[in-house]
Amino acid sequence: MYTSEQVKQLQHQTKDLLKADTVSVDEIGLLREVLRFHEYRYYVLSDPFLADYEYDQLYQWLVKLEKAHPELITADSPTQRVGTSLNQAFVTLPHLVPMLSLDNSYSAGDLLDFDRKAREITGLDSIEYCVEPKFDGASISLIYENDLLTRGTTRGDGVEGEDITRNIRQIRSIPLSAPFLANGIQQIEIRGEIILSKQAFTAYNEKLTEQGLTPLANPRNAASGSLRMKDPKEVAERNLDAFLYHVSYHTGHPEALNTHSGSLDLLWDLGFRTPKKEKRVLQGIEAVIDYCLDFEAKRDELPYEIDGMVVKVNTISLQDQLGMTSHHPRWAIAFKFKARQATTTLTGVEFQVGRTGAVTPVAKLEPVYLGGVTVSSISVHNEEYILQKDLKIGDTVLIERAGDVIPQIVKVLPELRTGAEKAIEFPKNCPVCGTLLFKEEGEAVWRCINIECEAQVMERIIHFVSKDAMDIKHFGEANVRKFYEQGLLKDIPGLYQLDYFKIAEMEGFGRKSLENLKTAIEGSKQQPLYRLIYGLGIRFVGETTAKTLANSVNHLLDFASKTEEDLLQLEDVGTKVAKSIQGFFQNPANIDMLKQLETLGLQLINVKKEAVAAGNLSGQTFLFTGTLAKMKRSEAEAKAEAHGGIIVSGVSSKLNYLVVGEDAGSKLEKAKKINTIKIITEDEFLTLLGD
Ligand code: IVH
Repeated sequence: MYTSEQVKQLQHQTKDLLKADTVSVDEIGLLREVLRFHEYRYYVLSDPFLADYEYDQLYQWLVKLEKAHPELITADSPTQRVGTSLNQAFVTLPHLVPMLSLDNSYSAGDLLDFDRKAREITGLDSIEYCVEPKFDGASISLIYENDLLTRGTTRGDGVEGEDITRNIRQIRSIPLSAPFLANGIQQIEIRGEIILSKQAFTAYNEKLTEQGLTPLANPRNAASGSLRMKDPKEVAERNLDAFLYHVSYHTGHPEALNTHSGSLDLLWDLGFRTPKKEKRVLQGIEAVIDYCLDFEAKRDELPYEIDGMVVKVNTISLQDQLGMTSHHPRWAIAFKFKARQATTTLTGVEFQVGRTGAVTPVAKLEPVYLGGVTVSSISVHNEEYILQKDLKIGDTVLIERAGDVIPQIVKVLPELRTGAEKAIEFPKNCPVCGTLLFKEEGEAVWRCINIECEAQVMERIIHFVSKDAMDIKHFGEANVRKFYEQGLLKDIPGLYQLDYFKIAEMEGFGRKSLENLKTAIEGSKQQPLYRLIYGLGIRFVGETTAKTLANSVNHLLDFASKTEEDLLQLEDVGTKVAKSIQGFFQNPANIDMLKQLETLGLQLINVKKEAVAAGNLSGQTFLFTGTLAKMKRSEAEAKAEAHGGIIVSGVSSKLNYLVVGEDAGSKLEKAKKINTIKIITEDEFLTLLGD
C-alpha cells in the first residue's frame, strides 16, 4: 500500500503538521492524506504510529477547515464517515453478481471428495488451492466506482441486499476510496465479512450488562445487529472490523485478478484488510487438509472468531470452468470447525444472592460438552433477560461458547416445546433469608436489602479473604462455606477468632494445613489499609477507590466523621460512591466491626502515607486507558505509585495525567474536554518516570 519512502515522508509530514499547531487551507489535501494513512495503520494493520489524541487533533483540524470551506469537502474525506440523519429505512438493492453461500465440509474425507470432483471436471492431476480463515461475522458486499466507495449492502437473500452504505462508512478498516483506476478497474464488487474482535465484543457486552441490558450471545450476532443499526454513530461506537475476501465482479483486466491469492494481495496493497497473511497457496488437497487442521488448533489464539476455513481453487479461469450448482460454487468449499454450539435442556433455575444482595438467576442445564468444557449451568443475568429470551423450564435451548467468552444461551427452540414447559417465577422474597426483594428505579437487578442475610454475610467473608482483598492464602471460598455452615465462623472478625481445636477435628485439616492457615490469617493483619478497605466490600468501592480512600486518612475510623461533601473532594469519588461510603461508616454495626478488627490486631492506620509522598510524581494523579504496549496496566500503575503518583479510576478535573494506550475509548474523549488534563502516550509516561 505505502512504500517505505512514502511511510517516511508521511511520518515527517505528520510531525510537521502536529508541530505547527495549525493547518492552512492549502494543506487540506495533505491533511486528508495524512489522516487516511493513520487510519490505515490503525484499522487495517493494527499498528498505529500516532497516539489517539494526536490523530484526533489532526481530525479536528480537518473538521474545522471543511466547516469554513464546505466547497472543498470530498466524498472520501475521513470526516465523511460520520452519518447524521437517523431512522432511515434500508432500501434493498440488487448485487451485481448473486452472493452464493458455500457448501460445507466437516472432515478430511469431505475435502478429498471435493478435490476429486474438481479434478474430474478440469482433468487436472493436482489443483492449486488458496486456503484462508472463514470469518464468523456478517457478510457484506461493497461496490467501488471510479475509485470511490459507492455502495455497501448486506447479503440479504443473495440476490439483493439492504443498502447499509451509511453504516459501512463507519468502519474504518474499509477505505472510502482506493486507487482502482490506476489498476485499470473502473468498477469492482468486493465481498467480505464484518466482524467484532473478541475484545470489542467483551467490552460491548460489559457495557450492556452495566446498563442492565441483555448481553449478546456471540460476536456474530453483535456484528450483524450492528450493521442494521439506525444510527450510524452507534455503529461507530461498536468498533467493527472488516475482512475482505472475494472479488465477485470487476471491469478491466489487471493480471493480479487472475488468481484468488493475487486478488487478496492486490486489495491489500490498495489499503484493504484481507487475509493476505493468513492465507496459504497450496498444491494438492493433502497440504490443504494439514493447513486446515493446524489452523483449527490455533483458533483460540486469534483476536477474532472464525468458524472454519475456506478452500478456494486459486486460478480464476479454473473457477470459471468449474462453475456452480444451483446453490454453491464448485470451486470453493467451507471446512467447518467443531461446533461450539450445543442444544440441551433447561432443567431449572436457581437464584443466587451475591455480596451486595443482588439476586442472579442461574439456569441449570442437562450437562453438555461444549468446545472443551462441560457446561451444566449458565447465568441468565436478570428478570428482563429471561423475559426477552422467553425462557421456560423444560425448554430446549441453544447454547454457545464463543472463544474464551463464558457460555451463553443463544435462543430457545420453541418448535421443540411439548406444552409441559413451566414459566420461570422470579422470587418476591430473598431465597436465603426471606426478606422482600427490592428493585431500584432504572435498575434491572432485584436485591435483598437485609445486610444480615446469610448469603450476603458469607459472600462478604469470601470477598474479604480473596486475593485482591486481604489475600488470606489457604482460606478459599470452600473453607469459608464449610466453617460458616459448621457455625465456626459467622462474620469477618470471626476470621481472627477461629477455634482451631474444633477445626482440627474436621476432616482434611492436618497439623500442617492448620499451621498454614494460621500463619496466613496472622499475616493478613499487616496488610496495607487499602486492602482492608477494599475487603470490606463497600458498594462501588473498587481497588482504585480503596487506594484513594486509604491515602486520604490517617486512620480508617476518620471516615466516621466525614460528610458527603468531604468525600466528594477526593479524586474520582462522585455522588454515588460518596453516598455509599458515608452509608457504610454511618452504620454503627460497621463501626463496631472495625473497632473489633483493630482490637484483634488489624492495621487501621495508614502507614504508607509518608513514603508514598516521596517520589518525583508525588501527589500527581494518573489514569491509564486502552491497551499498553510495553507493560501490563497493573505494572504501569505500580510504577506510577512507586514514584508517588496516585491512581484514580475516572476522568475528572482532579486528574493530572491520562496515559493512553491502543484502543482508548470514552475516557480519552472525556479527558479531551478538560484542558487541565495532560494526555500522554506510554513512552511519554516512561520518560516522566525518569527511570
Ligand atoms: S467466499 C462465492 N471466503 O461464509 C464465494 N466466504 O456460506 C463467496 N465467509 O456467505 C464466499 N469467511 O459470509 C468466503 N474467507 C471467506 C469467508 C467467507 C467467511 C462467509 C461468507 C459466506 C459464508 C459461506
